[in-house]
Amino acid sequence: MGKIRVAIVGATGHTGGSVVNGLLEEGSFVVAALVRPMSIEKPIVGALRRQGVEVREADLEGPEEELVRALNNIDVVISCVRESKTQQQDQISLANAAKIAGVKRFVPCGFGVVAPPTGVMRLRELKEIVYNHIKKLWLPYTIVDIGWWYQIAFPRLPSGKVDYVAMGIADEILGGGNVPSAITDLRDIGRYLAKIIVDERTRNKMVFAYNTVMTQNQIYDLMEEISHEKLERNYLYQVADNTIYDRVSECRLSAASSSTDPTTSHPLILAEHKLSWGIRGDNNPDYAKYLGYLTSKELYPDFESTPFGDYLRSVIGGTSEGRTWGLQD
Ligand SMILES: NC(=O)c1ccc[n+]([C@@H]2O[C@H](COP(=O)([O-])OP(=O)(O)OC[C@H]3O[C@@H](n4cnc5c(N)ncnc54)[C@H](OP(=O)(O)O)[C@@H]3O)[C@@H](O)[C@H]2O)c1
Repeated sequence: MGKIRVAIVGATGHTGGSVVNGLLEEGSFVVAALVRPMSIEKPIVGALRRQGVEVREADLEGPEEELVRALNNIDVVISCVRESKTQQQDQISLANAAKIAGVKRFVPCGFGVVAPPTGVMRLRELKEIVYNHIKKLWLPYTIVDIGWWYQIAFPRLPSGKVDYVAMGIADEILGGGNVPSAITDLRDIGRYLAKIIVDERTRNKMVFAYNTVMTQNQIYDLMEEISHEKLERNYLYQVADNTIYDRVSECRLSAASSSTDPTTSHPLILAEHKLSWGIRGDNNPDYAKYLGYLTSKELYPDFESTPFGDYLRSVIGGTSEGRTWGLQD
């Protein structure tokens, strides 16, 4: 059997970079990157070529016929676009083109946390519009969610040692800090994909691929153990005073009257994710299974994921590439 031909949209980004590496490392895929014309001269595109990736010029905002041409001979499409409304919606024409080009499996841009289809997270709702479109086309698909990146889930240290990679999102503890939530090393996403996209069991299914489950207090404990520093615990959003719910309501109101396209840095996206993370507790394997996901632990019990402790040791030791991993030339 010949190698499986996979086209990745967003190969110059974080998730797409992980997917490129995971597929190349596995060895049984021919990898193509669909890169929009404005980015074709980026150094990272040269780096992709040197890794053996075939670069095909294609813009999701361009004509559908060109996308069909860019998907010639492709078996699997993996979309790793940003969370903005525009980029999510641009996947509609990508899915149309994939259907016409005879793509055998389409992996839309999930790669987020577990959530019900509507009512909890605006970002999930944007993604569900794409999922529904794929289903209308009767295009074979697999939706993959991965929980929170390790790269986002840890707080800063008082010494400032991890400021070079910390994103600050976990500097506040939500509720009492005891809600379990699944986390995954960004670098492992591609290794999961290499298994998922050739697995018949995952066709037309949702998969929750995650490394481990931890509460925020457990993450803080582990940071203290490895760093030998005492962390201040900012329990900012106690359920009792309803603060986090108020923040979500305020953000929903202001987003409704704003023309800005929300991205992860948008207060609404962040507030909804934090409510789900620390109070609702959506992002865990039990709820995932309840919603109909298959889980990586059940599908691939022998998968060797990067331990969170190892990752934190590299962060605290000053050798982590953090979130910028995969984006270096
Ligand atoms: N679970 C988590 O903790 C977590 C954290 C962050 C993100 N995410 C999810 O992961 C997904 C991907 O996020 P990310 O941070 O990996 O994205 P990213 O690094 O911002 O990369 C986005 C990619 O999409 C490409 N792209 C955008 N518009 C395009 C177009 N019109 N045509 C072709 N390519 C286009 C960009 O290419 P250019 O080089 O041309 O710009 C870039 O490679 C998001 O949807 C988000 O929900 C999850």
